[in-house]
Amino acid sequence: MEIIIADNAGFCFGVKRAVDITSDELLSANKDIYSLGPLIHNSQAVKKFEEKGLKTIDNIEGIQDSRIIIRSHGVSKSVIDKINKMNLDIIDSTCPYVKSVHKRVEEYQDQGYNIVIIGDPDHPEVIGINGWCNDKAFIVNSLEEATNLPRMDKICVVSQTTNTQEKFETISKLINEKGNEVKIFNTICNATNIRQESCKEVASKVDAMIVIGGYHSSNTNKLVEISKKYCNNVYHIETSKELPLQMLSKFNKIGITAGASTPDWIIKEVVEIMDNINNNEMMEAIENSFTRIHRGDVLKGEVIYVTN
Ligand code: F3S
Repeated sequence: MEIIIADNAGFCFGVKRAVDITSDELLSANKDIYSLGPLIHNSQAVKKFEEKGLKTIDNIEGIQDSRIIIRSHGVSKSVIDKINKMNLDIIDSTCPYVKSVHKRVEEYQDQGYNIVIIGDPDHPEVIGINGWCNDKAFIVNSLEEATNLPRMDKICVVSQTTNTQEKFETISKLINEKGNEVKIFNTICNATNIRQESCKEVASKVDAMIVIGGYHSSNTNKLVEISKKYCNNVYHIETSKELPLQMLSKFNKIGITAGASTPDWIIKEVVEIMDNINNNEMMEAIENSFTRIHRGDVLKGEVIYVTN
């Protein structure tokens, strides 16, 4: 069995930065530390942080004399104002790329543009971006929604940072016809682009694809979407425990990628299990779990690292 690991899988710059900032803050225990929403979209990593003292909250009501972590997705301006008013310490780990989108929508709204965000209206990043243009943005997540936009004089278009290029291009093309003056900013971040390109490259040459990442992680779900386009057998897992070993043992070439919020230790566990799939211990584990596995189906493991 050949195992091909996509280059640029796992933590992106923004998530790594948020994780590092939080780890450092947890070392100085002078005040309670809260994360407004799960720090990253990976429940295993969040659990580890909570064991070290991080508390996850949905809102800041009733919080006193504490530090509040703003995660990489960012929040709206009104949330920042509220935290400041409550005299709580802000530890802002908003990804700089997301921050630049906040700045852009704020500036363009001030110049009289209607803001259109291409993205998921329920995703915290999109909610945060909308909050920097007074919650007045039109949020569109499909061609149909873009078609239904009213005609406007001036439009400024931005994207959720984890969108696929294809989706952004088709939707923004349509929005371009909706205004007299339309500024389109492709704000899909580079980390997303290179992860999606590597994923595409690997998925198109394997029999099965394993995508590791949180079920609620937008960028991981995009990698699943892309994998499905290029490969017929795609398995989205959060941890190594969910590896469908019996099914995977049937394939000769398996690709592995991981979302931008998947910690290295989870990726390593998956790779190690796949790499050892032919050793006796693993065979025993498979045979114990499933009754009809033929030893000859499981071939020698070989790990190939793909570089762009
Ligand atoms: Fe930032 Fe891009 Fe990651 S916007 S949080 S570096 S996916």
